[in-house]
Amino acid sequence: MKIEIEQLKLQYGKFTALHEFNLNIQDGESIVLLGQSGCGKTSAMRCVAGLERPTHGRITIGDQTVFDSTAGINLPPNKRNVGMVFQSYAIWPHMTVFENVAYSLVTRKTPKPEIQKRVKAVLDTVGLSAFSDRGASLLSGGQMQRVALARSVVMEPGALLLDEPLSNLDARLRDRLRVELRELQLRLGLTCIYVTHDQSEAFALADRIAIMQGGRIVQFDTPQNIYSNPRTAKIADFLGVSNVFPCEVAKEDSGRCAAHLSGYGVTVHSSLPLSSHEGALSLCVRPENFSVEAADKQPAAPTTNQWLGNIVVTSFQGGQVQYVIRLDNGPEISAIQPTFDRALLNNGDRVSVTLDPSAAQILQAELAS
Ligand SMILES: Nc1ncnc2c1ncn2[C@@H]1O[C@H](COP(=O)(O)OP(=O)(O)OP(=O)(O)O)[C@@H](O)[C@H]1O
Ligand SMILES: [Mg+2]
Repeated sequence: MKIEIEQLKLQYGKFTALHEFNLNIQDGESIVLLGQSGCGKTSAMRCVAGLERPTHGRITIGDQTVFDSTAGINLPPNKRNVGMVFQSYAIWPHMTVFENVAYSLVTRKTPKPEIQKRVKAVLDTVGLSAFSDRGASLLSGGQMQRVALARSVVMEPGALLLDEPLSNLDARLRDRLRVELRELQLRLGLTCIYVTHDQSEAFALADRIAIMQGGRIVQFDTPQNIYSNPRTAKIADFLGVSNVFPCEVAKEDSGRCAAHLSGYGVTVHSSLPLSSHEGALSLCVRPENFSVEAADKQPAAPTTNQWLGNIVVTSFQGGQVQYVIRLDNGPEISAIQPTFDRALLNNGDRVSVTLDPSAAQILQAELAS
């Protein structure tokens, strides 16, 4: 079921938690709200669910207007046809898995044979058929999470709202459930709004990601586009581009520009004209886009964007190694290199660092407010 959120504003007293919040979600689409703690993700979800009354705006779910400040419409949560799964999954420990999942159907006086059929099908879907009669307190964290999910899915909601549902789980289980959740969402064609502050979770689950800052959506696009073209340096930084330096553009002509950061000259091939940017600029480089070599292996003729420096920290991570390198009379940079077929470099080693001009971006630091 499609969801449309128009011009939503939410105030808690004098504090504005959501400003002009607009979001258009297609039927069967998985949208992730991604942003730092306190940016308004849960508030936005609560407005869609009907748990919070916005100050202004309109929300439509399917063909039904569930909130409209102008027309005075505000449907209660149970009339909105959405399911919710929250971080604290509050399943009832004194009931079995089956009873937990059947609970809402029972309260709605659904006929018993239908309850049996629907609960069984959903437990199959989430891989919990074998646990149907087990007491819910005797489950692992991941199994409890799946009970919480099954409980929402069994109501066959038009849309599912998930607020950091995996954050209580350990890293490996989270990785696995993330893939299972995406598979389930695609298989059932569920329209989902998923909240997280974890970028890899967002990339794995979303058809489109809405990046939020200070109660606003600052970028809304596919994971691939957001990864390759973050709108600002602040967004890039949030997405793990760990090398973000204030810079000045010295010269720009036909997609090639020379920039300075703390006295260092850098050449960047930019596909976007910098003239569209406002305010301060930052040079942004992903750590995997630097190439690091022992200094004695440096080619005789130095190439563009090649500098010397010393390794300050070496952090081995299995398939890759992360180096922190202090450039001579320049900034510290973070570089990630594959470990396959290369010797590790050590703290104190003299190195040459090269940056491909097309692998760096110059972005405006922040959006003009
Ligand atoms: N009931 C409330 N009364 C007043 N302020 C509130 C209330 N609920 C939330 N806020 C404030 O609104 C802002 C947004 O809160 P929200 O819970 O939506 O953030 P979030 O993005 O979900 O953060 P987190 O990642 O920490 O869960 C925060 O500054 C928060 O302090
Ligand atoms: Mg929250």
